[in-house]
Amino acid sequence: MSTTRRCPHAETPVLDDEFVQDPHVRYAHMRADAPAQRVLTVTGMPVWVITRYAEARAALADSRFSKDFRRMGAVMDGHAQQGKPRPEFADSIQAHMLNMDPPDHTRLRKLVMKAFTARRVEALRPRIEEITAELLEAMAAKASDMSDVDLLDEFAFPLPIRVICELLGVPEERRDEFRTWSNSLVGGDPESARQAAGAMSTYLVELIARKRREPADDLLTALIEASEDSDRLGEQELVGMVFLLLVAGHETTVNLIGNGVLALLRNPDQLAAVRADPARVSDVVEETLRYDGPVNLATLRFTAEAVTMGDVEIPEGELVLVSLSSANRDEDKYAGAQEFDLDRSTSGHLAFGHGIHFCVGAPLARLEGQVAVRRLIERFPNLSPAAPHDDVRWRFSTLMRGLETLPVRLN
Ligand code: HEM
Repeated sequence: MSTTRRCPHAETPVLDDEFVQDPHVRYAHMRADAPAQRVLTVTGMPVWVITRYAEARAALADSRFSKDFRRMGAVMDGHAQQGKPRPEFADSIQAHMLNMDPPDHTRLRKLVMKAFTARRVEALRPRIEEITAELLEAMAAKASDMSDVDLLDEFAFPLPIRVICELLGVPEERRDEFRTWSNSLVGGDPESARQAAGAMSTYLVELIARKRREPADDLLTALIEASEDSDRLGEQELVGMVFLLLVAGHETTVNLIGNGVLALLRNPDQLAAVRADPARVSDVVEETLRYDGPVNLATLRFTAEAVTMGDVEIPEGELVLVSLSSANRDEDKYAGAQEFDLDRSTSGHLAFGHGIHFCVGAPLARLEGQVAVRRLIERFPNLSPAAPHDDVRWRFSTLMRGLETLPVRLN
């Protein structure tokens, strides 16, 4: 008979602010203790966390870990007496492919891949360069009095949201609202997240109607037109898809830029190496993804049946989080994993997930990250941290790994 092992931290809130500020020490203990452990979130919800590389990779490709949002609701309600009630979102917002299993997931993913092509991403390169240059000039003007600037506010936040709006074909005048909505959605306050989701959904319905009347050369039009054997995305599916693209593609890319620049500022020898050979920005992006990737824990899954991992059994109907941050720092996979090292092989990192839900936006995120880091360090040869870099604070979030601010001196 299998026994369910518990770690020393079990049943205490693990996903709290102390953890958010420094997850890596805790993860090292968790990896040493067991392949999966049941812990509590700050709201008191019990979840299993998978921390070792091999098990994390296997779990992401294992269909016994389901993402079906209709059944997930019931699983969460089953644990609700131990936690606070979960926020209710409209189905249109939850009903997207990241919350689905095959065959629904397969169908939606095929349709989006028809529209979100490599050609479309590459065609965005000149606009990404232009937007980057504009933001860097605006930042230089702001800092001309030698004052410090927040690199997140002035650069890392506005760049991805402008790029996604450009990609989808969201008109310029609505971009600020998109930024506000997107921030509320990941901000952690359920009520403002619910309101933002509602406002965004209403706006997306209008925008889709407009694109139907006036097709343009953008991803939204391509999604409307994408078809596979006479199959097309329905109205609600389009809203869900666009919502997913906006949310999945915004804060993640912000964090890639923020975490990457922080790692370079903390490792001046590595920064010097990229300055000497700018082609190495692709190593910066890959090593940032491995070392401090934007997504700490992959989105919630649940066990559709019991799963045994080593000497641990996760029963059926349990919530499960796969830690990408922990897997990517597993010494069994990457020697010297706790060091930021541009010379290492980062091959196999899990920052974009793995298996059927592997990130659709990975090529776009890589392109944006490379352009952003390259142009930033080129434009500001004296870029330095404005505060001692031990002072940084990480934004409180269960899933994401990103800074609250990144004050820098440009000159
Ligand atoms: C899925 C990471 C940027 C769109 C995922 C997943 C991860 C991830 C880990 C899988 C989640 C899971 O299995 O629970 C990242 C990172 C990014 C990034 C680290 C930036 C550095 C983007 C961008 C877009 C995007 C720019 C689109 C514009 C998506 C979509 C999915 C996804 C649509 C769901 C795929 C599916 O369910 O089949 N991403 N992402 N992501 N990402 Fe990204």
